[in-house]
Amino acid sequence: MLGSQLCKEADFSTSWFVHACGKLREEMRYHRKLWEWCYIFEALRERNMLMPFKSGLGFGVGKEPLTAAFASYGCEVVATDMDADEAKEQGWVETNQHALNAMDLNNAGICDPHQFRNLVTYETADMNRISDNYVERFDFTWSSCCFEHLGSIEHGKRFIVNQMKCLKPGGVAVHTTEFNLSSDEDTLEAPILVIYRRRDIEAMVSELRQEGYRVTVDYTAGAGPYESFVDLPPYHNPVHLRLKLGEYVSTSIGLIIEKEK
Ligand SMILES: C[S@@+](CC[C@H](N)C(=O)[O-])C[C@H]1O[C@@H](n2cnc3c(N)ncnc32)[C@H](O)[C@@H]1O
Repeated sequence: MLGSQLCKEADFSTSWFVHACGKLREEMRYHRKLWEWCYIFEALRERNMLMPFKSGLGFGVGKEPLTAAFASYGCEVVATDMDADEAKEQGWVETNQHALNAMDLNNAGICDPHQFRNLVTYETADMNRISDNYVERFDFTWSSCCFEHLGSIEHGKRFIVNQMKCLKPGGVAVHTTEFNLSSDEDTLEAPILVIYRRRDIEAMVSELRQEGYRVTVDYTAGAGPYESFVDLPPYHNPVHLRLKLGEYVSTSIGLIIEKEK
């Protein structure tokens, strides 16, 4: 079972983490991106979303292995990302974080190719302007490492609240982002990247609860040797659970938001 929602060293030796790494065909390493993928996978698995005929909508999927893993369970997936030209402009193509087509999302062979073609569609979707075509169509939604890139703290918050409309009753949303461990006062807020403070996440959670959604939050941070190490630019250290972004130490946080049946 998942512990708290902050990236934790202790998670990497749990059976759920090892299981998720196997399904995602990823080697275990102390990296917060891997934690985000495994966290999303496990949050959905625990809530019985990974089974045939469940439908999922992924935002800003880049080249992450989650689409293929979900399809391998028989889920019908609409994987989306921003327009390719815009992604090029923002540097996502250069850093190998943007897929050219659907098959690019199954490069590791996680899902049987025939099953993948039948179950997965790849579409352009702007997270700042979610299409009405997606309303109440999905059992689950997810995004990894994305909503901090939408323009501002408020843009990310609007995305999180808006994307809930894509879920059917009883649906589950799982989204991960950057969390500021240094300060609950100041933070980084640039058009290409923001770091959420605890107060920003609390404001988001409070709005979600006001709208009737169930959210579990726990901001407990660990103090083990790997999570006490802070990676610095150009971030090539194999241990990368915390990193310095500008003047702030950041790690990953996950949100699980559930819609009543
Ligand atoms: C850091 S990458 C993460 C990619 C992938 N989710 C992963 O975990 O490897 C950020 C992703 O957000 C996408 N993105 C940024 N702004 C977006 C927007 N406005 N609408 C949709 N996707 C966006 C980028 O195209 C890119 O795929």
